[in-house]
Amino acid sequence: MRAIAERFIKNTKMSKEEWIELLACAKDQETVDALTKEAVRIRRHYYGDKVYTRGLIEFSNYCRNDCYYCGIRRGNLHAHRYRLSKEEILECCEEGYALGFRTFVLQGGEDRWFTDERLAEIVREIRKRYQDCAITLSVGERSKESYRLLKEAGANRYLLRHETANPAHYGKLHPSSMSLTVRKQCLYDLKSLGYQVGAGFMVGSPGQTIECLAEDFLFLEELKPHMVGIGPFIPHHDTAFAKEAAGSVELTLYLLSLIRILLPKVLLPATTALGTLDPRGREKGLCAGANVVMPNLSPLRNRKQYDLYDNKICTGEEAAECRESLAKSVESVGYRLVDERGDAFEIEKESAR
Ligand code: 5AD
Repeated sequence: MRAIAERFIKNTKMSKEEWIELLACAKDQETVDALTKEAVRIRRHYYGDKVYTRGLIEFSNYCRNDCYYCGIRRGNLHAHRYRLSKEEILECCEEGYALGFRTFVLQGGEDRWFTDERLAEIVREIRKRYQDCAITLSVGERSKESYRLLKEAGANRYLLRHETANPAHYGKLHPSSMSLTVRKQCLYDLKSLGYQVGAGFMVGSPGQTIECLAEDFLFLEELKPHMVGIGPFIPHHDTAFAKEAAGSVELTLYLLSLIRILLPKVLLPATTALGTLDPRGREKGLCAGANVVMPNLSPLRNRKQYDLYDNKICTGEEAAECRESLAKSVESVGYRLVDERGDAFEIEKESAR
């Protein structure tokens, strides 16, 4: 194992140069293996063989943003837009609850039809019906007041990937109407309001360099999110990045292990994007330090329309099938899907690993 990796295992506080050196070890199999082993040790120490499951409800693919990588960006006139009604969302929850889900993730594009009042009403109703469940929102950038209102309505968690912590790279992935400063402010606002917060980024997005990744890790260390979502970039045919190469599964797995070591108690999903690029991708993610999976609860008729990238998996399966096949694959690598909320540890209080 390279010296920098040993040093990282002992003490994760590192300079940008050290991060670059550690990230460059991705090609050194012995070092990767040693870090993967350490990540799995930490993961088992905190979570044993448990894998938490989140029911993902993709409730709208309308979006006011035009992120260059994303299939549901505003400028994509080929996207078939849909929006679930409150009743349809509640039906997804009902089905999910019966299947054992105790976390519902409401994810959508930045759809302004869902004003604070409309969204809060939905959250309130879910909270009323499912008091033992966690409600996670993933609806992009909103004002702190809006986040506060949704929290008061009963939301517990919020997913908002920062996408890249390098401002110039952020500018290559997004139109000038968007900024990394605003994105980061949203994450800090969410944290200060008491949400369990998830940040994250794509691996291998166009223009990403090893320096960008080093900055992602420095940002994660600073923000200390409760959850981190990472997955490989996958080109979408109706975007400016259609001809770009997809991100690497191996690098994603290596980064999952580094995140587990940096933030020992973090909730770390083996993402759908990982499973899309490699049929065993999600299982490999679990074996690299991930401890969460997020199967789809969206109505089958809308599944294909939530089309962030090409060839997305599980768009033709009923929620029950989806969960069942996932339970099997989780077991095939020695873990166990559990029907628990799977809340984040209080991460501010450091404890010995
Ligand atoms: N490839 C991989 N991930 C993508 N996302 C959006 N478009 C793509 C793509 N082409 C991710 C973004 C976003 C999350 C919901 O999906 O990181 O935050």
